[in-house]
Amino acid sequence: MLEKEIAKRRTFGIISHPDAGKTTLTEKLLLFGGAIQEAGAVKSNKIKKGATSDFMEIERQRGISVATSVLAFIYKDKKINILDTPGHKDFAEDTFRTLTAVDSVIVVIDVAKGVEEQTEKLVQVCRMRNIPMIVFINKLDREGKDAFDLLDEVEQKLGLTVTPLSFPIGMGFDFKGIYNIWEKNINLFSGDNKKNIEETIAFDNIEDQKLDKIIGENAARDLRENLELVYEVYPDFNQGEYLNGNLQPVFFGSALNNFGVRELLDCFIDIAPAPRPKKAEEREIKPNEKDFAGFVFKIHANMDPKHRDRLAFIKIVSGTFERNKPYLHVRHNKKLKFSSPNAFFAEKKEIVDISYAGDIVGLHDTGNFKIGDTLTEGEILNFKGIPSFSPEHFRYINNADPLKAKQLAKGIDQLMDEGVAQLFTLELNGRKVIGTVGALQYEVIQYRLEHEYGAKCTYENFPVYKACWVEASDPKNEEFAEFKRVKQKYLAKDKQGQLVFLADSSFSIEMAKQKYPSVRLHYVSEFN
Ligand code: G4P
Repeated sequence: MLEKEIAKRRTFGIISHPDAGKTTLTEKLLLFGGAIQEAGAVKSNKIKKGATSDFMEIERQRGISVATSVLAFIYKDKKINILDTPGHKDFAEDTFRTLTAVDSVIVVIDVAKGVEEQTEKLVQVCRMRNIPMIVFINKLDREGKDAFDLLDEVEQKLGLTVTPLSFPIGMGFDFKGIYNIWEKNINLFSGDNKKNIEETIAFDNIEDQKLDKIIGENAARDLRENLELVYEVYPDFNQGEYLNGNLQPVFFGSALNNFGVRELLDCFIDIAPAPRPKKAEEREIKPNEKDFAGFVFKIHANMDPKHRDRLAFIKIVSGTFERNKPYLHVRHNKKLKFSSPNAFFAEKKEIVDISYAGDIVGLHDTGNFKIGDTLTEGEILNFKGIPSFSPEHFRYINNADPLKAKQLAKGIDQLMDEGVAQLFTLELNGRKVIGTVGALQYEVIQYRLEHEYGAKCTYENFPVYKACWVEASDPKNEEFAEFKRVKQKYLAKDKQGQLVFLADSSFSIEMAKQKYPSVRLHYVSEFN
């Protein structure tokens, strides 16, 4: 039973640079799964453009997105869990953390814009973890880059090894359809009614003269040539290589027109991995182990200031999670029971009695959890791979209301546990520095401190280029002691007590690396 349920699950994330079509694709996948009846249902989740200056609006929209943080549906007997990732770059860290809970990803790329900045960052994180990736090149109904150029770009900029599993016939105005290499058939794109797929025609042999009649001689010739090149240049698809993160299949289509999406989904459920084992510091945990183990990868605060209620999202790594059963909160060494765990289905969340490895449950939390916390049936486990990345912005945080120092400390503590930003405490004088990915978070923090904790803060600029986590190959050697002496002003501890070098320029990082070769500097908090 357990094995069967787990084998059904496909838990993945869709990543892209904003505007490439992630939301549209998500929605079309849900339509195929029959999970929603009309287009537009997922849109409310999206942080709208233009809202960048209005953080309350963003928080409100993020509030809405609690319901759509996990979108689950059944398709062809598979339970699909899509983990939503915020597209807004100021919330990139949320996305990084969500990637710790997926078993595979689909990368969406805009055919005209090609590989964009945010895609590069996110794919890099996936590569670090060998997450299997499928690439979907979107907006084929528009003029864009040549398919082969684009495949080159994906390989070079993203460091991937691709193999197309479908290939476009024409593009933009001349877009005629897609040859599905995986299923060996052609889908024709109807220019008049772009909402529907006209028909699927199977072609075992593309030399078949019927092809010329259907798409025209020129297009047929081009397609044959292109496919010849594809077979010559790109490796054959190999599922093992894909699952190891060494080979990335590519599909072409148009999410808006629902074109190429079914092909993507059908192939996805064939090849994408069921829940994968996950490493803890102690050992590797396999999904089909009987005992439950899971970890918190996301915490979502409710915007209602009267209920300081939060929802902690747990990825179930092994076994089953059951309602009202006591589980060990490893960091607190305390047993906790949950009477109303939420499971997610399409855009709704509901209380469930049992969930399986691969699933996500949402637990109501009053401040017990922080990102990375582990729940088990009793075993001491600490999951690896929820690193912090160097923030982009740094500011001192000051208390603006001396009577509320405690509230401020508590508020900062909890907001950092939620992963809103990172806190660094300077070694020299104990001053607190907040590091964020986007400038927007400072407003969010200020607002939330005031409305949820009754505390006031001000900020002061602190010119830091990057935070580097410090690893000393020999903590006792003279070189490390000198590094600490010379850089004293720039050293801080993060919330876990790890030593961090707050460098003011890339030059000073380079200098430090040269001068103190035994001291390693990392842009990520996890390095062993
Ligand atoms: P995101 O979540 O990755 O940020 O992108 P989203 O799906 O919101 O898509 C961004 C824009 O691209 C939307 O247009 C969407 O309609 C459009 N789009 C998505 N897929 C396709 C496609 O296959 N072809 C074409 N031509 N456009 C596509 P918008 O004008 O910004 O939003 P809306 O007003 O249409 O909702």
